[in-house]
Amino acid sequence: MKVLISDGLSKAGQEILENAGIECVNQFYTPEELVENIKDYECILVRSATKVPKEAIDAGVKLICIARGGAGIDNIDHQYAKTKGIPTLNTPAANSASVAELAIAHMFALARFLHKSNVTMREGKWNKKEYKGIELNGKTLGLVGCGKIGQLTAGIANALGMKVIGYDPYIKEAAGIEMVSFDDLLKRADFVSLHVPKQPEPVIGAKEIAKMKDGAYIINCARGGVVDETALLDALNSGKVAGAGLDVYVEEPTRNMELVSHPNVSVTPHVGASTNEAQERVGTEIAEKIVAALKG
Ligand code: MLT
Repeated sequence: MKVLISDGLSKAGQEILENAGIECVNQFYTPEELVENIKDYECILVRSATKVPKEAIDAGVKLICIARGGAGIDNIDHQYAKTKGIPTLNTPAANSASVAELAIAHMFALARFLHKSNVTMREGKWNKKEYKGIELNGKTLGLVGCGKIGQLTAGIANALGMKVIGYDPYIKEAAGIEMVSFDDLLKRADFVSLHVPKQPEPVIGAKEIAKMKDGAYIINCARGGVVDETALLDALNSGKVAGAGLDVYVEEPTRNMELVSHPNVSVTPHVGASTNEAQERVGTEIAEKIVAALKG
């Protein structure tokens, strides 16, 4: 049996597959090439770069399962795969700590101008007077989505002395988080951080931003499009939103240079899960699930 590893897999994960007698092919294909080549594989393993649409699933005549090293499966047409009896496997919690830490890192960057001073000092500038920041201690963090990642973010924020409020239609209580209505959260939070799956419509658009505190911050390490990029840019330009920390974008790689080069935006290129620890956990967990599906 053969697994197409499209966006990489940890060494430990690959060893688990090979020890089970599964051949691993590390190859990234363009969407057209993928449709041409997927017929040779019992499983395709992706992260976020490779999309697995209906056409690829139809062409994958030998597919027993589709695997995603990570939490979100929005880059796979998993509903369609299900209708064909092909399950989509993922690792829902393996990278939660890494994503939570990145969300907090963006908060620190914005609060203390790290994203700016890292650039200007390399240009030989000493802009000490321009970087009078704020403390996170004492500020209110509003978590939109209080699942595993939200709860881990809350734990770190609590330790920093932040008051944490949260909104989640599916979760009624969580340690260290005062659950509130969505409107209440928007009104009260100094930092709004999103921890929700991809949605058909933005969760934060112009209407929601209008309800936020003047000078609040928005952090999106969840999925591109859960924050409306046009509304965010308008709010950054008007000063309504003081800053944004972004790891994910409507289009990836993003071409929205006006947004990512905005002076009040701290950016990373979808690296929420990109730590040694998360990739070890993701790799091992997804490899074990693939072995069970192919050999079970
Ligand atoms: C996830 O859904 O867990 C992450 O987006 C994974 C990734 O970075 O590829």
